[in-house]
Amino acid sequence: MSLKKSDALFIVLVLVVLGIFFALTGKEKTRKLPKDPTHAPFAQMRAEGKAKIEVDALCAQCHDGVQIPFPESHPAKPGAGVMRCLFCHKTD
Ligand code: HEC
Ligand code: HEC
Repeated sequence: MSLKKSDALFIVLVLVVLGIFFALTGKEKTRKLPKDPTHAPFAQMRAEGKAKIEVDALCAQCHDGVQIPFPESHPAKPGAGVMRCLFCHKTD
């Protein structure tokens, strides 16, 4: 029994879907906004419908890369303007 063209296409499709799945679940490993008293007000603002970018702007009071250093390979670099913290560090 030889492999039909449609079988080969099916296998490729499965691999592509699996690839996308792993790429997306990998991203989800980024730490969420901590559930502690320091960060609770920001989750609250988001729950009340405040725009993400307005809340992002408040993170740098503490997370300016000096008071709290970012990890070596952190995508958001200090001094790059408002960084979209909550785009990566989700609230829930
Ligand atoms: C009042 C100061 C303050 C503000 C404002 C603040 N944080 Fe933090 N955050 C901290 C401190 C302190 C830590 C712990 C740092 C450490 O690990 O040494 C922390 C840790 C974190 C961590 C890492 C959690 C972990 O699991 O290691 C993330 C992610 C984070 N903050 C995101 C944010 C985001 C997003 C905002 C803005 C919505 C924000 N923070 C605003 C003080 C603050
Ligand atoms: C493009 C995505 C992205 C953006 C934007 C981003 N981060 Fe991160 N951040 C990451 C990744 C990935 C890590 C390393 C993996 C992890 O620990 O979550 C990280 C790690 C951290 C850590 C250290 C967590 C630890 O391991 O102790 C803190 C604190 C943090 N980010 C805060 C912030 C703050 C505050 C902002 C906004 C100024 C921000 N991040 C913007 C993706 C992002």
